[in-house]
Amino acid sequence: MSALASAGYVTDVAYVPGFYPQLAPVAVRFVATLNRVTPPSVADGFRYLELGCGLGRSLTALAAANPRGEFIGVDINPEHTAAIAHNIEAGGLTNARIITSDFANLPDDIRDLQFIALHGVYSWVAPQVRADILRIASERLAPGGLLLVSYNAMPGWAHLQPIRGILRQYAALRQGDSLQRMRDAVTYLAFIRDQHAKYFDDNPRAAAFVDTIRSQDPRYLAHEYLNEHWTSFYFAEVAEQFGGAGLTFAGSLPVHTNFWDLCVAPGFQELFRTTTNRLVTEAHKDFCANTAFRWDIYAKQPRLMPGTADRLRLADDFWFRTTRPDIHLPYSVNLGVVTSTVQGQPYEMLLEKLSGKGRRLSEIVSDPDFKGFAADDLSRAVDAGVAMRLFDISVEPFVDPLPSLGNAISLPCRFNRAMLATDLFSGRGLALASRVTGTALTIGDLEAAILSEMLTSVDDDLPARVDALMASRDRVLQREGKPVTDPAERRQRITEAYEAFRTTILPQLEQQGVVTRGG
Ligand SMILES: C[S@@+](CC[C@H](N)C(=O)[O-])C[C@H]1O[C@@H](n2cnc3c(N)ncnc32)[C@H](O)[C@@H]1O
Repeated sequence: MSALASAGYVTDVAYVPGFYPQLAPVAVRFVATLNRVTPPSVADGFRYLELGCGLGRSLTALAAANPRGEFIGVDINPEHTAAIAHNIEAGGLTNARIITSDFANLPDDIRDLQFIALHGVYSWVAPQVRADILRIASERLAPGGLLLVSYNAMPGWAHLQPIRGILRQYAALRQGDSLQRMRDAVTYLAFIRDQHAKYFDDNPRAAAFVDTIRSQDPRYLAHEYLNEHWTSFYFAEVAEQFGGAGLTFAGSLPVHTNFWDLCVAPGFQELFRTTTNRLVTEAHKDFCANTAFRWDIYAKQPRLMPGTADRLRLADDFWFRTTRPDIHLPYSVNLGVVTSTVQGQPYEMLLEKLSGKGRRLSEIVSDPDFKGFAADDLSRAVDAGVAMRLFDISVEPFVDPLPSLGNAISLPCRFNRAMLATDLFSGRGLALASRVTGTALTIGDLEAAILSEMLTSVDDDLPARVDALMASRDRVLQREGKPVTDPAERRQRITEAYEAFRTTILPQLEQQGVVTRGG
């Protein structure tokens, strides 16, 4: 691979696999809907491009979860694309394809896209590569199409930028591949922090951040910090760049960031009430929350949906459902900066009505029990409920929990079976695709091992079998970062994890159609 093609991006070390639900069409469409932007219709199929898809866990899981979509991934690193091609084949995905290319040489036929996503790319590539990205957005996104871009944001990165600087400068002096040089640089960073370099004494949060860095995967660190052109942006800079490509800001993830009263402290709320310019509001919000990372959505030639009636006509294909059966009001949640509480109506009734299979907004607003509430108020309550994690969204009705037909379970989706084999004990969890949610749920390594053994048979010996499976793969159960060596304690901990999996995660997987009962 030529240095020119990668333009200073690390290519000698493969990245880490990871599934990011923010990239799901359902998430991006929902944010557009919240912001009164008509999302692309997906009922008759759609085209989705991921730029810089890494090892492709998001791309492939989303393809498995959205059979009506055509998913195309592009990455410059042939080690990444070979692994993705293998997973596409093993998972039997006929709606996903992977291309080894830089962004400048994307094949001509990749156009008329309803979605473009790029995660972990925009802040880390050279200015000319960002220009390639903007050209792709401008030329290849269909009118009404949506683009998701993530980036390191200011002001949250302000006190951390020097850490990136010193890591890169020290790594450049060392020998070996990016991984080795990164390890050496982290050791040096910890040394100067521990020796009380004044920068760290003056910036206690940066000093604490060194411990975060030490706990992170060196493959991730190499890709995060060693690229030549790493930078962080203010929201307004990115908005201006995408604006130049003909795209308009259409909201952000996580969902609660679209509700300023959920992400700024009460002292600032008057300022937000009187500011109508969204670009200004976003800048204020980033200062109030000290935002260090943003997930922004842009629309090409957005068609607006001014009222709830328009939304019901153009974007009524989300099902809303309570996240857990045990939620009681008043319900409080802190999403980072401010604690918000909901109580009373319409939430009491919504919690009751949205249990089970879930409902669409049209069903909620036409329900006679809600007749005292205006459609606008109900839709705002439902949306805020999603933001506050009272409700989940899905693209199909959730599967009604069935009476248990015995203990035997199966994984009907071939992709999920293939990824269980590939990602068991990956150290990064296992993303299980669901056609009901249109996205995937990531479970931890121990849960994946339990699931793997449950698929064989469920009996009293299951914890012992999980213990043996871990031993056969040289995996050691940890407690507070230390290996659990006592076999009785290990068995006890696995038994507890099995109980928690059976009573909390397994019912969710059943309702999402990922796991079926009865073998
Ligand atoms: C930090 S990784 C993120 C991967 C993936 N999106 C994820 O979140 O797991 C950035 C990816 O962009 C790819 N990349 C960087 N510059 C590129 C370019 N000019 N053309 C194509 N791919 C590029 C890298 O190979 C890498 O896989």
